Amino acid sequence: MKLRDLSWAETLNREVLWASIRAEITTCRRCELHKSRTKAVPGEGNLYSKVMFLGEAPGRSEDEEGRPFVGAAGRLLTKLVESIGLKREDVFITNVVKCRPPGNREPRFEEISACSYFTDAIVSLVNPSLIVTLGNYAGYYVFEMKGGVRWLGISRMRGRLYRLKVLGQERAVIPTYHPAAALYNPQTLAMLQNDFTLIKEYVHGSEGEGVGLLKFLHGGNP
Ligand code: URA
Repeated sequence: MKLRDLSWAETLNREVLWASIRAEITTCRRCELHKSRTKAVPGEGNLYSKVMFLGEAPGRSEDEEGRPFVGAAGRLLTKLVESIGLKREDVFITNVVKCRPPGNREPRFEEISACSYFTDAIVSLVNPSLIVTLGNYAGYYVFEMKGGVRWLGISRMRGRLYRLKVLGQERAVIPTYHPAAALYNPQTLAMLQNDFTLIKEYVHGSEGEGVGLLKFLHGGNP
């Protein structure tokens, strides 16, 4: 193999691993949620992105489509991502729970825990340098379960950039509100928008500086 083929090999490797993680998620029976799901929702986006958005659990539209954040909260997330000069396809989006809790109830600890088998694998595969946690459950998973830092609740933790060792790697983490919480609450929306300016500063500044935004986001890969 020639040197110039290495990035091609890496691309193939990541795609193959993702296909196998996805396949395992769609047939998973690790928790009760498999009984009521229509489609599991593994996640989607650029496998080489430096930025990962981590949500809570699929809702009705996501359960029907098998894609994350495609309902009303998803449309708001897409707008927020675009407001900071990115496209949805530039980032990776997944949830701490991959199957819809019946009636959109909140996910249970044992479900987040069972699904962390996959969440861990996805974080390790994409290896983002920034994780944006949306809402309390994603914050709890990253800070308390993986980062060894006490999660004090979204209103106390949001709006700051933390540096945490998550799954063996130092990563920036920005916790913010879940977009669903901002749909009918202008004050929450304003705080969410404010937190996105922090994401923008991180992505366009610091490590992004000098290499160009797209190169930073994709690490030089497709
Ligand atoms: N809410 C989430 O947390 N995730 C989705 O995918 C959709 C709504």
